[in-house]
Amino acid sequence: MSELRLHDYHPSSASLMQEVLAGLAATPKVLPPKLFYDHRGAQLFERICELPEYYPTRTEIAILERHAEEIADLTGRGACLLELGSGAGVKVRLLLEHLRPKMYVPIDISRTQLRASAEAVAQDYDWLEVHPVCADYCRPLRLDFIPDDTHRLVFFPGSTLGNFEPAEARAFLENLRGLTGDEGALLISIDLKKDPKRIDDAYNDSAGVTAAFNLNILNRLQCDLDAEVDPDGFRHQAFYNRRAGRVEMHLISRRPQTIVVDGRTFHLDEGKTIHTENSYKYDVEEFQDLARRAGYRSPRVWTDSDALFSVHLLRPA
Ligand code: TRP
Repeated sequence: MSELRLHDYHPSSASLMQEVLAGLAATPKVLPPKLFYDHRGAQLFERICELPEYYPTRTEIAILERHAEEIADLTGRGACLLELGSGAGVKVRLLLEHLRPKMYVPIDISRTQLRASAEAVAQDYDWLEVHPVCADYCRPLRLDFIPDDTHRLVFFPGSTLGNFEPAEARAFLENLRGLTGDEGALLISIDLKKDPKRIDDAYNDSAGVTAAFNLNILNRLQCDLDAEVDPDGFRHQAFYNRRAGRVEMHLISRRPQTIVVDGRTFHLDEGKTIHTENSYKYDVEEFQDLARRAGYRSPRVWTDSDALFSVHLLRPA
């Protein structure tokens, strides 16, 4: 089998550096979540998805399995299927036989994982045209290899939209209309509000995988951006902020220390935080309202019987 051609728009280390410097200079300090997903981070995240405490992945998979045929009936077959954050490519496999897309465009920031999972999909579904795109999908994408007249379905799994601030989430959805076109659709997964204990546990697993994943962002600074930083000087913290409706992920400084990046020194007192990610949770109606304000209607939503997780079909209004 010949190798697939990868469309490579991975952000340059210069642009990652700019984001990191701006984040460390901010109060409180922040780091961009896309830094999580280097090769090791992508592997750690795969392990998170299998943790007993991390309910989102297995619940989402069960919903997709159960409703794949109805999803295909509603979205139509023979489309161009684009996936934002395709990761290991597990979820899309539940849809492919039902959707029978003409073309599959997995988009991910982790190049190694993307290449491997796209190759594997291309081998296992020999009738499918696969065009992997390595990119930060928050930036405008150039996808001129997709014929204009092809009907588009954008799949955005993993409740990743919850990692945006609500106002950003709305703007991001608005922009996605450029990808779906007027006739296309968006299939998007959203983790639901629920018992805070259940949410807290999902981000504080007993095996410490989530902690390792969160701390890996500091290894990334060391290895890819040549920073002077001691990952052991930090600990993982995650909690559900009920008022804001979000999980907050932090790295807490265990002692006074400095991080040096690109010749600039950043000081952290003991107990000070670097905020690495938020994960917003929505009620079904709350999310439908957000989607409406972004210019979509929501003809269908699927949830599990415990109301842990939701998958929404959205169409441009
Ligand atoms: N998108 C995932 C989520 O919000 C990412 C995630 C899971 C994560 N566990 C984490 C991010 C721990 C940082 C730390 O559920």
